[in-house]
Amino acid sequence: MINFHKDHKSLVNTSLTVFAGLSVLVAVIPAYQMQETQPLPAMQPMTEAQTRGLDLYISEGCVACHTQQVRNIEMDKVWGGRPSVPSDYYYSKKRMDVWRQSPSLLGSERTGPDLTNVGKRQAGQEWHLLHLYNPRIVVKESVMPAYPWLFSEKSEKQLSEKDVVVPVPAAFLKPGAKKIVASREALALVEYLVSLKQADIGGEPANGFIPSVKKPAAEGSGTAGLPDGAALYSNTCAACHQADGKGLPGAFPPLAGSAIVNDADPGQLIRIILQGYDARPEYGVMAPFADVLGDEEIAAIATHERSSWGNQAPAVTAEEVKKIREYILTLKP
Ligand code: HEC
Ligand code: HEC
Repeated sequence: MINFHKDHKSLVNTSLTVFAGLSVLVAVIPAYQMQETQPLPAMQPMTEAQTRGLDLYISEGCVACHTQQVRNIEMDKVWGGRPSVPSDYYYSKKRMDVWRQSPSLLGSERTGPDLTNVGKRQAGQEWHLLHLYNPRIVVKESVMPAYPWLFSEKSEKQLSEKDVVVPVPAAFLKPGAKKIVASREALALVEYLVSLKQADIGGEPANGFIPSVKKPAAEGSGTAGLPDGAALYSNTCAACHQADGKGLPGAFPPLAGSAIVNDADPGQLIRIILQGYDARPEYGVMAPFADVLGDEEIAAIATHERSSWGNQAPAVTAEEVKKIREYILTLKP
């Protein structure tokens, strides 16, 4: 019988063996198994620009406030359609060198939202550029730091064809400031952010969120039976068109007083939400929402927009949206 009180060699050797054994069990074997992970069929390899964006994401320390992991718990449901799996990180897990692990994108701090699916929530390049230049331009109460060093100032004359000018409102510029131009790094970072979309694994995930008790749908506050249009607007549209519906000059048009929103016939409004919109050079591009929002949700949002900020137009029904969605589908080849 070893006496640990007297035999210090045995004490050291035994604890060393237990330590080494546990390390193999909880670190080495799982790491080894991870190397056999395959990408999901729906995943695309990262482009060169996206990879540079990822490097910048790491070097700028975005991971200090943002996670990229949807945990298998109820409260993480808002960040993705399913819990994250090892395959999700297949393309972003490259090792830095023999001695250093791949930088952890999982993160452990959510001062800002989880970014696993941010490409689906915020698809617009303009929005991301404005947000990186100064988050307060698009989200008034944001505590996220600004990253002005990812942009340069140029005068009208210095501008070249290729320059991407960011429509920063005058209130956020120093007096006499020139045009704000996105750097190659800023564009790569945005390309990376827009590419962050959870790959579809088809059907209900085997390991669904726990506890997966289905709560009865919340009572609609809008028109009979429709979901809450104000909440949907705030989650899907307000980032660009702003909570007060006034938009941002030079980037996103106002919905308050908009002829399209107030039209007695909601047809064009519904088409814009379904198909996206890029009609005028002075504004950016709006991405389509056909794959993101259901008929009832679109009806609720449209109804909310038509009855807020002084707008006064009749409500929109899910049937109207359904008809236009079906019509649009017949146009597709
Ligand atoms: C000090 C903490 C902090 C840091 C560092 C930070 N963020 Fe944020 N981020 C936030 C907060 C808070 C929000 C929510 C408010 C907002 O949208 O601005 C946010 C929001 C975002 C959003 C919008 C998410 C959504 O769901 O709409 C994106 C994209 C984003 N950050 C990207 C970045 C990138 C890229 C970096 C690094 C260059 C970064 N953040 C660094 C705190 C941070
Ligand atoms: C990423 C930013 C962005 C988001 C998010 C967004 N939009 Fe837009 N929206 C735009 C831009 C940019 C335009 C102008 C496009 C143009 O005219 O070239 C626009 C135009 C519109 C117009 C036309 C208004 C007019 O009078 O010209 C309507 C209506 C509209 N959006 C509704 C919505 C609704 C509803 C949502 C939420 C489901 C939404 N948008 C989400 C960027 C956005």
